[in-house]
Amino acid sequence: MKTKTVISILVFTTLFLLPSCKSEKPRDIVAENFEFAAQQLEYAVMLTEETVNNDTRDSLKKVASPLVSPRTMADDGSLIMVPARDWTSGFFAGELWYMYEYTKDPKWEELAIRFTSPLESQKLNKGTHDLGFMIFDSFGHGLRLSDLSDYKEINMAAARSLASRYKPNARIIRSWDHNGQKWDCPVIIDNMMNLELLFWASKESGDTSFYNIAVNHANTTMKNHFREDYGTWHVVDYDTITGEVRKKTTHQGFADESSWTRGEAWALYGYTMTYRETKNEDYLTQARNIANFIFTHPNLPDDLIPYWDFDAPEIPNEPRDVSAATITASALYELSLYGGEMAVQYKEWADTILKNLTSHYRATLESDAGFLLLHSTGAKSLNSEIDVPLVYADYYFLEALLRKSKIENNQSLF
Ligand code: GLY
Repeated sequence: MKTKTVISILVFTTLFLLPSCKSEKPRDIVAENFEFAAQQLEYAVMLTEETVNNDTRDSLKKVASPLVSPRTMADDGSLIMVPARDWTSGFFAGELWYMYEYTKDPKWEELAIRFTSPLESQKLNKGTHDLGFMIFDSFGHGLRLSDLSDYKEINMAAARSLASRYKPNARIIRSWDHNGQKWDCPVIIDNMMNLELLFWASKESGDTSFYNIAVNHANTTMKNHFREDYGTWHVVDYDTITGEVRKKTTHQGFADESSWTRGEAWALYGYTMTYRETKNEDYLTQARNIANFIFTHPNLPDDLIPYWDFDAPEIPNEPRDVSAATITASALYELSLYGGEMAVQYKEWADTILKNLTSHYRATLESDAGFLLLHSTGAKSLNSEIDVPLVYADYYFLEALLRKSKIENNQSLF
């Protein structure tokens, strides 16, 4: 090789290749997203004040059911907020608690308390199963992270309200009271998530009836909600006298026999958590089988952010559901701790989900109504919340990031 050519190669390597190798520091997905969330959630808090001030409902309604929490974004880009009785009311407060947990900055604790307090009335709401979401994802975190002793009784009251919906002959907790013409006693797969509140109440009070209700519900759901391939029915309707299953249908999925994606995510998270609380290997096996269903499904896109239903008819021209992806990622981090030959793979899938969400699904700073992530789907079958930001997608995103950070720093998750 001629001296001139050698010199040219050396110059090229020094100028272009070496600097780029040096600058390839791995991205810190966790720090990057918490920095983004810190700015975006401050903006969101500002928008909540504006939205409450511009509430055009009549004054009676405003007093009876004030808007307390962001839920999603309207077509015109404005923030949609909900009153305390909405099933999503606890997630924004939960996000603020996660900000406090990550940063330890008292500013977030103060904000978290401000958005948690207005939810207290729901501890006595016996008309829904969603009390785990509403109360345990807000007051539950408050109790865990701060010295707020009155939060204990609020969580306990919510557990009693949830337990009041237990139907002993069918061995399940009733999910919904609405649509009485469609179902007698509907149980949705989502209900698995609310069992965490009951497991906590049992440990805290020593009253094993909370534990027994949760375990019975998990067992009945395991028996009736899953197909052979671990796809789930969304809604199973029970006869509360005989305990028999009346029918298996959907509400938010594409069809009765389809697998609604967020339902799969709730199931994965729910059985992983139930294994944590009981150490019964049957639940661990169930969670692993659900993970296998999701990650071997031919309709799961390469970036691991699923379409809203695994059987949606127009795939690949169907909206994604980022909320299912964040719930799944968070569940996978926990599942990766319980050993087995797939443990490393579970963490890798969760890492890939977070990386792809960060690169391709994130909202714009000080825009998108203050949400963190775009492209979730609430209920396409009901023509509701299609391809929008959703507060629970953001909540499980922060939770998954925190879990990733704790695992990588050898800290306990719970
Ligand atoms: N739990 C209601 C939903 O996932 O849409």
